[in-house]
Amino acid sequence: MKRHTAAPPAGTDDPAAPPDFLREVLAGLSKPRKELPCKYFYDARGSRLFDRICRLDEYYPTRCELAILRRHGPELAARLGAGCVLIEYGSGSSLKTRLLLDRLADPAAYVPVDISREHLLRSAGALARRYPGLEVAPVCADFTAPFELPPLRRRGRRVVYFSGSTISNFGPPEATALLANIARLCGPGGGLLIGVDLDKDPGIVEPAYNDALGVTAEFNLNLLARINRELGADFRLDQFRHHAFYDAGHTRIEMHLVSLRPQVVRVGGETFAFAEGESIRTEYSYKYSLGAFRQLAGQAGLEVERVRTDDQGLYSVQYLSVRRDGG
Ligand SMILES: C[S@@+](CC[C@H](N)C(=O)[O-])C[C@H]1O[C@@H](n2cnc3c(N)ncnc32)[C@H](O)[C@@H]1O
Repeated sequence: MKRHTAAPPAGTDDPAAPPDFLREVLAGLSKPRKELPCKYFYDARGSRLFDRICRLDEYYPTRCELAILRRHGPELAARLGAGCVLIEYGSGSSLKTRLLLDRLADPAAYVPVDISREHLLRSAGALARRYPGLEVAPVCADFTAPFELPPLRRRGRRVVYFSGSTISNFGPPEATALLANIARLCGPGGGLLIGVDLDKDPGIVEPAYNDALGVTAEFNLNLLARINRELGADFRLDQFRHHAFYDAGHTRIEMHLVSLRPQVVRVGGETFAFAEGESIRTEYSYKYSLGAFRQLAGQAGLEVERVRTDDQGLYSVQYLSVRRDGG
């Protein structure tokens, strides 16, 4: 049997120097409340650490999404339809995708899109070996900026898969804009299959971001290690600590790195002073009610057609169709 390998990825060529990294880090650290974009968590080590987070007992989102796909995969795959082009945003290790691909009828192509180049290549290669008849066309890109889809051998209805509740990392205006871009990419008649974490008891949410083994802390601090390595900064990792808490008013987790003492850090020729206890916000993770997410999607021109949840109602996988009137 002829073996297909994944094509070399379209998009960014130089993994060591994302073009906007320095500019965005300086801008974030210059704000009155310091922040860093969470998309920079995912260098090669960050991606491996995220995979470890997914296997932690406390991290219910992966467990729930896998359970939903196992139970409702056939029905969801049928809704995606035969011959579709499956485009995955933030594909990571593409593990959940296998549950879909195992059930999809004759997919035309699989296009994983991820900012983490090395991880993307390895995952796409593994997928191409597992599905020898499938065209796997990885794209290394930041999906919040415009990117081109690669030329594909077959055409088909476009469906985006956006797993892991990565949409939760965006505040409502940015999430609406991203969903609207997805709706445009898919076009009328296209669809979006999305994992959305649901609002729940903080007693379940907070431990998911404060695991006993400290893997999430390592993942958070790795962002500073990456900035040191790639931008020549001098963050002292032992002088910051991981802090994650649930903000009930905004129904979101906030992840921070807290300075343990007054200190000055140099990045790209600039200096940034930290007071003791001052923090850098590194991630939001919004938790939605089904109604709030439906409203957000509606503003982006998407209509929620199907919602499937796990037994405890912690997490949802939703199928949305692109409204023909474009919203
Ligand atoms: C929360 S992880 C989810 C991974 C996988 N989908 C899952 O469900 O396990 C987010 C993934 O999106 C990627 N990512 C984050 N921000 C991105 C961006 N702006 N553009 C492209 N990929 C991004 C990361 O590299 C990572 O693989």
